[in-house]
Amino acid sequence: MGNDNEFDDFVKKLQAEIDKKEQEDYSDIVREEYHNPSNVGKLSEDLCNGFGRYTSEVCGDSVLMYIHIEEDHIENIKFRTDGCGVTTAVASKLSKMVKGKKIKDAMSITPEELTDALGGLPDEHLHCPKLAITALDKAIKNFQESKSE
Ligand code: FES
Repeated sequence: MGNDNEFDDFVKKLQAEIDKKEQEDYSDIVREEYHNPSNVGKLSEDLCNGFGRYTSEVCGDSVLMYIHIEEDHIENIKFRTDGCGVTTAVASKLSKMVKGKKIKDAMSITPEELTDALGGLPDEHLHCPKLAITALDKAIKNFQESKSE
């Protein structure tokens, strides 16, 4: 029984240290998006009319974007990633920023603007927004190319 309590204390301490480190390194927005991401998954084939995938040359992680464009705006969007927690936060934030937006406005968002919208990122994660933005860009181009065929 004593050992169980010691183990519980150890786990609690460890979790507190992890939480503290997370708070020091990441903004509230990043942590919220990471723990409760929006638009995770993939769109069904009958809805998805644009798909884009981008793999980072820095870390080898990927983001996959599935979009449903109607007329000139993004009606729906979902993403998947095998990347770091920041990439989940970044893709989640971007998906919310562009949902319902006109294509041209969605395409004009820069990695710097996305980083700002997340309340900043640590230096070692400054490459992460590019994954989501480039995957979205590719999904929109995929849609435009399939239209012009
Ligand atoms: Fe690779 Fe964030 S996407 S570290």
